[in-house]
Amino acid sequence: MRLQLCTWPEVEARLARSTGIIVPIGSTEQHGPNGLIGTDAICPEVVAEGAAERIDALVAPTISIGMAQHHLAFPGTISLRPATLIAVVRDVVQSLARHGFREIYFLNGHGGNVATVQAAFAQYHSEASFTGVDGPAPRLKIANWFAGRRVAALSQELYGEAEGSHATPSEISLTWHAYPDRARPMQMEPRLAPKGAYGDAFDYRRRFPDGRIGSDPSLSSVEAGTRLYEASVEDTIEDYGAFVAGN
Ligand code: NI
Repeated sequence: MRLQLCTWPEVEARLARSTGIIVPIGSTEQHGPNGLIGTDAICPEVVAEGAAERIDALVAPTISIGMAQHHLAFPGTISLRPATLIAVVRDVVQSLARHGFREIYFLNGHGGNVATVQAAFAQYHSEASFTGVDGPAPRLKIANWFAGRRVAALSQELYGEAEGSHATPSEISLTWHAYPDRARPMQMEPRLAPKGAYGDAFDYRRRFPDGRIGSDPSLSSVEAGTRLYEASVEDTIEDYGAFVAGN
């Protein structure tokens, strides 16, 4: 169930039987010549909603703008500074904790968010730690929709080295599963994008002129997206279930 479609009495009643919630978190950033700007937000959102439907979990609104400074040389990208994202995550956690949510599970779609969200968790926990007062505190986790065992194995089977690390055929396929009318099959030149490290947005665009890193998203398809969706929903149900159970 989406939190946005609940009434407050429904949320209150649900909290009496379950204190878990899934918070999709992504980014608004370029995803190569044929990838949607919203890819990193769309992917965890559809997986979270699919998993939640099957296990009657609650899904918060997607945090759809993340830490994407390195993509800012491409039109359409919107980024938060790391300090801003830390503040956003902290305020979301504090809001949910105030109501009694105790297992807060961020399902992430953007590798560039991970370090910052982990820093936000450390910041949140440190505030409680420094008070010296014990009390009910939420448990926090960030998991990537693409990193579960089923999805990782399927991405490898489908794409091998052509998966790359940005604008991957897996993530683009999943967005096409969600929005098939936005599918834009396209050949890539070079077929495999370059790989490597980067600094700021200027450096990124110089090294990766069409936005991709190491990937060949010409291999994307709606059919693959449907298989990846199923795999990620299963991975998420398993991992979220274990998290809520205390593991
Ligand atoms: Ni992405």
